[in-house]
Amino acid sequence: MRILALESSCDETAAAVVEDGRRVLSSVVASQIEEHKKYGGVVPEIASRRHCEDIVPVTRQALEQAGLSLPQVDAVAVTCAPGLIGALLVGVNFAKGLALAADKPLIPVHHIRGHIAANYLAHPELKPPFLCLVASGGHSHIIEVLTYTRFRVIGRTRDDAAGEAYDKAARCLGFPYPGGVHMDAAAGRGNPNAFRLPVPKVEGHPYDLSFSGLKTAVINLVHNAQQKGEELNRDDVAASFQKTVCESLCSRLIAAAKELRYDKIVLAGGVSANSGLRGRLAADCRMNGFALYMPPLSLCGDNAAMVGSQGFYEWKAEKFAGLSLNAVASLPVDQEIEC
Ligand code: KG4
Ligand code: ZN
Repeated sequence: MRILALESSCDETAAAVVEDGRRVLSSVVASQIEEHKKYGGVVPEIASRRHCEDIVPVTRQALEQAGLSLPQVDAVAVTCAPGLIGALLVGVNFAKGLALAADKPLIPVHHIRGHIAANYLAHPELKPPFLCLVASGGHSHIIEVLTYTRFRVIGRTRDDAAGEAYDKAARCLGFPYPGGVHMDAAAGRGNPNAFRLPVPKVEGHPYDLSFSGLKTAVINLVHNAQQKGEELNRDDVAASFQKTVCESLCSRLIAAAKELRYDKIVLAGGVSANSGLRGRLAADCRMNGFALYMPPLSLCGDNAAMVGSQGFYEWKAEKFAGLSLNAVASLPVDQEIEC
């Protein structure tokens, strides 16, 4: 079963061909980062326009690299939620057109489910059930992955996502967008114990997260230093920030795994590229005897191969869409897509 998959939920236009959910035949990603950098964040209108320009060449390239023509693929999968609505609509409508023209089934894919599935591409032995931490620019969730297509969210952020907090703190410290990767590099040079930053708890919800207080604490550090005319060591701030984010994410994930008796832990989403998070989680899992699965760096960020993988399992569960499929900006990962 070969699936042509498309992804356009944010600032990457991507297409891939994936066989049986596990083998990547091709994967092409056109990033718009350079364009959004000058505005310090993603400009939705620009993202939609760029997707319109890039989606045809990117799809052609993915088919070419797989050595296939459109009639030779078995289905078309597309990210239809959640994300920037204008950006999602480009991928969804293009996928509908392809499916109609080539008379192929159309498979709708939830973006977060895709991030989780990136791990199926890297780890052939990995199968649900497992406990997953998804940390990306838009989401921070602790999810029970019950089957390939059944999910239960047991913890979520109450305000900013982990990646969003990274990007906002980075901006405040003067790093370019997207700041997560720059903060990660700076953290490697700094002292993680230089500043004590808050790790807020959500009363009565032990697995929920909150990052807006942490972001505010970094902003206050910068403003205080500016007012006093002092130079702030941004490597130390980044290292202290990273230590706090990792503590917040890992302590909840490990506590949830112990309580719910999971011994398989999976990491997913753009922030899973973070070296501090990968190191801390590996140590925590080793200490507790948990098996840990992480995507390779090439599959941490947005790509279409992960959509092709999840698309295979949605197809197996007979979750197809008709031509009335719409894009949805916000949709919980455990909710079914209306199609
Ligand atoms: O999953 P993703 O590519 O897009 C969304 O679905 O949101 O995640 C992007 C996020 C950005 O906030 C980016 O700064 C963050 O992932 N990120 C990182 C690192 N690499 C990417 N955050 C911390 N450390 C990194 N190494
Ligand atoms: Zn993503």
